[in-house]
Amino acid sequence: MAYAITQTCCTDASCIAVCPVNCIHPAPGEPDFGTTEVLYIDPRTCIDCGACADACPVDAVSPVDVLSGADAVYAERGARYYAGRTADPVWSAPLIPRSLPAGTPAPRVAVVGTGPAACYAVQALLHATDAEVTMIDRLPVPGGLVRFGVAPDHTSTKRIGESFAALLRHPRVRVHLGVEVGVDLSHADLARHHHAVVYAVGAAAARPLGIPGEDLPGSLSATRFVAWYNDHPEVPGGLVDLSDVRRAVVVGNGNVALDTVRVLAGGPDRLAGTGIAGHALAALRSGAVREVVVLGRRGPQDAAYTWPELHALKHLPGVRLVVADTPGTRAAISSAAPDDHAALLSDVPIEAVDLAAPPPPGRRIVLNFFSSPVEVLGNGRMSALRTTTGPVDAQLLIGAIGYRGTPLPDLPFDSATATVPHERGRVAQLPGTYVVGWIKRGPSGGIGANRLCAQETVDALLDDAAAGRLPTPPATARDFARLIRNVGRDAPAGPAIR
Ligand SMILES: Cc1cc2nc3c(=O)[nH]c(=O)nc-3n(C[C@H](O)[C@H](O)[C@H](O)COP(=O)(O)OP(=O)(O)OC[C@H]3O[C@@H](n4cnc5c(N)ncnc54)[C@H](O)[C@@H]3O)c2cc1C
Ligand SMILES: NC(=O)c1ccc[n+]([C@@H]2O[C@H](COP(=O)([O-])OP(=O)(O)OC[C@H]3O[C@@H](n4cnc5c(N)ncnc54)[C@H](OP(=O)(O)O)[C@@H]3O)[C@@H](O)[C@H]2O)c1
Ligand code: SF4
Ligand code: SF4
Repeated sequence: MAYAITQTCCTDASCIAVCPVNCIHPAPGEPDFGTTEVLYIDPRTCIDCGACADACPVDAVSPVDVLSGADAVYAERGARYYAGRTADPVWSAPLIPRSLPAGTPAPRVAVVGTGPAACYAVQALLHATDAEVTMIDRLPVPGGLVRFGVAPDHTSTKRIGESFAALLRHPRVRVHLGVEVGVDLSHADLARHHHAVVYAVGAAAARPLGIPGEDLPGSLSATRFVAWYNDHPEVPGGLVDLSDVRRAVVVGNGNVALDTVRVLAGGPDRLAGTGIAGHALAALRSGAVREVVVLGRRGPQDAAYTWPELHALKHLPGVRLVVADTPGTRAAISSAAPDDHAALLSDVPIEAVDLAAPPPPGRRIVLNFFSSPVEVLGNGRMSALRTTTGPVDAQLLIGAIGYRGTPLPDLPFDSATATVPHERGRVAQLPGTYVVGWIKRGPSGGIGANRLCAQETVDALLDDAAAGRLPTPPATARDFARLIRNVGRDAPAGPAIR
């Protein structure tokens, strides 16, 4: 029968460690691990023990024989991945987690953030040491983008929040929510009470489109739109008015763009019963959206979306997916080799689409490649868009061109990459200070990518602890408990999400 790995895989590699026959690849350390979009099970050697399915935090592993319809592709892709490869029973060298030499005092570590990077770092710390951990988040709800970013229809992915929540209840972890470092507490406050401070603050700001009219009502960043449908406490429920929107344009070809497209075009019924904000579901129900156009500045071969997310878009019930016949698009798809990214669109109709006219009846998604926005037009509110490939009749514009890190007081910041400069997670100028996740690597990579990233940062911290390089904090854990008692608050005080 064998098992196969499906859409929600976030490549955290939890399944690999439990597989008794080493048949899940690519594994950490293997060439494709950092770039693969899902892991694959070798159907020739899988012994159907089901251990990987039990270990998977996002329910991505299924027996092949229950995969039907559109999901059958996951078994096919798995078999295709292994075709021509010899089954290799040899295990690569084990990745042995570092630990502290006997006699090294257990460090007190502050971790800023409660998203995936923070949680994986805390998991690694608790596993390798007797560390006492303080976790701090500016929001009143933990989870970072798992709670306020992952799309509501990714219900299995959201489930990883349950394993993270269990971690926050660990007896050696104290969690303080509604406390913003840099506003309510300074880096010096944390450093005075802890041997080490790990920043896992993500990249919460939007990259602007930088075009005239971008600030008109009706035009907003995906950062804000995503926060709106995920009920983020800093975004008002009335932010998005869909009542007169017949066509929306989403700029960008990444997975965030596709998330927003599914939410707007997939119909409200498939979102009912998920964690979508009530105001967003109501707006979608009463709204008029018939068409969503996705503008990609480059061609289908360079689109940043992953194949499982495009596959999901092809199978949205009641929605037609088409590719607009812009110059260069047809040739890019027809000349693509079977494994090229552009070939993912070979089964999607390519059509001449008149975006200057109102959309036709029914629901449609149009992938419009080699096109960029030039100007948002409208009198008091967006009513049209000018693009490099012509005018578009559109009443909503979502800029989904990536997130961006923001500087933290007292920490160095590289404004070109919008990250904190580091060496394997260590912030050079500040002994005992580390970064992990999107503020370390920049805003790319799924949830699982933060696991290896966290391991690297924790390894650096443990090396420093073992070598006696962590500063000794002058104040105690009890002093910190007293300090933080006076700064907690229920609602975020920082700037509203941009
Ligand atoms: C819209 C969207 C959807 C996504 N969907 C998926 C998906 O379906 N599957 C998948 O595998 N990956 C998905 N990802 C990617 C995944 O969410 C990221 O890889 C991951 O969240 C990055 O983790 P992080 O911990 O670095 O940042 P975050 O998750 O952003 O966590 C940062 C945390 O730090 C807190 N914080 C920030 N500043 C401060 C401060 N000064 N003081 C205290 N706390 C602070 C924030 O409140 C937040 O809780 C998605 C990303 C986005 C943007
Ligand atoms: N698995 C999931 O379901 C899921 C869901 C959401 C997010 N994520 C992950 O989260 C990470 C962030 O996703 P993301 O979509 O925000 O970022 P992303 O993958 O980096 O995609 C950004 C897109 O914006 C385009 N872009 C950038 N600047 C532009 C400009 N000035 N004008 C027009 N287009 C521009 C990029 O095109 P160019 O390539 O031309 O630069 C790219 O298509 C990714 O790793 C993603 O896979 C995963
Ligand atoms: S079912 Fe068992 S043998 Fe098959 S991939 Fe999963 S863990 Fe490995
Ligand atoms: S999410 Fe993790 S555990 Fe689940 S299939 Fe993917 S790599 Fe394996």
